[in-house]
Amino acid sequence: MSNQIARSADRLKVDVYVDEHGMLESMPEEVRIGLTASPKRLAPKYFYDEAGSLLFEKITELPEYYPTRAERDLLHDISAELMADLRPQQIVELGSGSSYKTRQLLSAPSAPEHLETYVPFDVSESIVQEASEELVSEYPYLSVHGVIGDFGRHLGHIPAATGRRLVLFLGGTIGNLDPIERVAFLRQVSELLGPEDRLLIGMDLVKDISTIEAAYNDSAGVTAAFNRNMLHFLNRSLSGDFNPEAFEHRCFFNQAESRIEMHLVPKTPQIVTLADLDMSVTFTPEDSLWTECSYKFTEESLTEMLADSGLSLEHFYTNDDPARLFGLALVGPID
Ligand SMILES: C[S@@+](CC[C@H](N)C(=O)[O-])C[C@H]1O[C@@H](n2cnc3c(N)ncnc32)[C@H](O)[C@@H]1O
Repeated sequence: MSNQIARSADRLKVDVYVDEHGMLESMPEEVRIGLTASPKRLAPKYFYDEAGSLLFEKITELPEYYPTRAERDLLHDISAELMADLRPQQIVELGSGSSYKTRQLLSAPSAPEHLETYVPFDVSESIVQEASEELVSEYPYLSVHGVIGDFGRHLGHIPAATGRRLVLFLGGTIGNLDPIERVAFLRQVSELLGPEDRLLIGMDLVKDISTIEAAYNDSAGVTAAFNRNMLHFLNRSLSGDFNPEAFEHRCFFNQAESRIEMHLVPKTPQIVTLADLDMSVTFTPEDSLWTECSYKFTEESLTEMLADSGLSLEHFYTNDDPARLFGLALVGPID
């Protein structure tokens, strides 16, 4: 038993680029800019401290939240063939979270023959540590080299591959980036890809609005708690005095922009101090906090995004269930 643990530990390494509060060095500056902007807006990465990651895991199990199940089922259907065709030596996953769906790929029959290293990359330390420990024990053939950091700033810390690399960007996280941001991001990711390497992007697709809106307004209030968790994170990291319960979760589909928008709207005006930034901010029902976008794609918007990013589409996998439409795009660098 202790031998097995020692051998698992030998196959596990995690590099950390956040401080002991889970804070990125860019956080003070980004929060200052975001809270003085109009509208006030912060990046979704500030949902994901330990509590936020656990709340997201709960969201993925909600009856209304179809994307995780749809993507898992798609991965289940394509993994064996995809892995046997590509035979990657390294899998890098950006925004890996619990790596729950990644297990479909790690369990593919061919994986032990060619796959050596899995690199989960996420801003949330606790979830990567936990997932990495589970994975080295579940997959005796695999080494795990986690990276805790911001995929907007720390991609250069991804360990080198000695063979073919498959990069994953699952969970519809691409939809959290605005059109200009995601093209800039995909251009950076394309620099991780050699001619034989591939990127698999998971994206939620446009469908019936009531289905989309229900997924972000669950009846158990878990998404509302997840949204308010950003205020807890700010209180802890920057010595703030937000009263999260004074803010309402507001989430709707903006059809013109093809995106879900998530906001925190105070019921009455709130003056909030962030002592570490020496800053006071007033929030009102008309001047609230925008916390997340989740863009929904079509094949047309996917094609446009890839063309602008210098990537070429090799295969687009989708399901045929109109209530759970989801897509996986396998892309590579343009030769
Ligand atoms: C929508 S969740 C998806 C999680 C997982 N991939 C899945 O499909 O269930 C987004 C994940 O990306 C991570 N994340 C968000 N912004 C990030 C950033 N800037 N850098 C690194 N990770 C980030 C979050 O911590 C979270 O685990």
